[in-house]
Amino acid sequence: MSETVVLAYSGGLDTSVAVPWLRETQGYEVVTLTVDVGGRVDAAGVQRRAITGGARRAIVVDARAAFVSDYIWPALQAGSLYQGQYPLATALARPLIARLLVEAAHETGAGLVAHGCTGKGNDQVRFDVAVAALDPSLRVIAPMRVGMGMTRDEELAYARERGIDVPTGPSSPFSIDVNLWGRSIEAGVLEDPWAAPPADAFDWTVDPVDAPRTPHEIVIGFDEGAPVSIDAEPLEGVGLVERMNHEAGAYGIGRIDHVEDRLIGIKSREIYEAPAAVVLHAAHAALEQLTLSRELLAYKRSVGDRLATLAYDGLWFSELGVALRAFVTHTQRYVSGEVRMRFSPGSGVVVGRRSPHSLYDIGLATYDAGDRFDHASAVGFIAIWGLPVRTQAAARRNDGAQPRSLLDELGADRLDADALAGAIR
Ligand code: ARG
Repeated sequence: MSETVVLAYSGGLDTSVAVPWLRETQGYEVVTLTVDVGGRVDAAGVQRRAITGGARRAIVVDARAAFVSDYIWPALQAGSLYQGQYPLATALARPLIARLLVEAAHETGAGLVAHGCTGKGNDQVRFDVAVAALDPSLRVIAPMRVGMGMTRDEELAYARERGIDVPTGPSSPFSIDVNLWGRSIEAGVLEDPWAAPPADAFDWTVDPVDAPRTPHEIVIGFDEGAPVSIDAEPLEGVGLVERMNHEAGAYGIGRIDHVEDRLIGIKSREIYEAPAAVVLHAAHAALEQLTLSRELLAYKRSVGDRLATLAYDGLWFSELGVALRAFVTHTQRYVSGEVRMRFSPGSGVVVGRRSPHSLYDIGLATYDAGDRFDHASAVGFIAIWGLPVRTQAAARRNDGAQPRSLLDELGADRLDADALAGAIR
């Protein structure tokens, strides 16, 4: 009996061709696995296409709820944005798909898993490394990397000869990956980093010039760092993210234009549409500002950056990743409350926040009546705080040239009272 391979199957042209290619040229039995992470999967159609292509079994799984709870929320709680911009939609889905591939391999007795990534991107690294982390005995084959190279027309002909009904319309001018947390768009005219993205690159967001002029306010509720409601209506994760994508997208919020550094060393221009991610990151950060200490906020920011890089680089399941996520989870105990946001064309801004665990103390902060801050104690505090700087300045006083006078350089106008009195007299 020939060996079995489990193929991560989107149902698109490349992976539809990979099914017969793996059978005919490599001699494998093929099981396909299609994971719905919010990219609108037509389960019946996908299964039929896989079986027509020669798959022995076609598995489809709706993994959206797990995607939100185990990947999206942890990344949101960490404040993870790769290079400060990319909310990691594609990168976060890969370890989940890899985990399901490994389980499907165990279930079907497969010794290999396969994916449709090319040899130039990040996704191949994420799949290969995540599979290795979960079961190092499994081998990974990526047909696009090892000889399946066909042009689009060759792929269409190859599929047609085998009776596979692949989409025959005009091919998209872009390479697109979609899931709940965002839409990633690259290639085509976007490869020129000077070229503004054309209107047809976007699907989830309106052009801000076409967004409603009237601002719209929403209140997002959080429980221990996870969004749980919109305008006091409790929502589970998938519905909440979908609704936020819809509402913020209608205001043209969430367009990101990024020249990012791929793990394999290439700079790449990528456009993202991530309305929910942009809004929820802003809201979550605002609630943390209210509920976490300065020290924790500063330290946590470096952890979030590190976790973003780990996710981007395919190291989600590394020991460091697991340990840092445990740290982040611990920090979220008090990140509960509500954030008010105002949507206007192209932007969603925080206009209010409140929490039962707020560290904001009006008695300390106010400049009005009711001020409980001890102003006199500031004198002693500053004397100690500034002591090393004062000591240093005194010791170094005589070493070095006279600094130039900035007052002179800026041509300060000096008017003496005596001179003014003389002038009036
Ligand atoms: N650059 C993003 C990443 O590495 C998205 C990759 C997939 N994008 C695409 N258009 N196929 O995570």
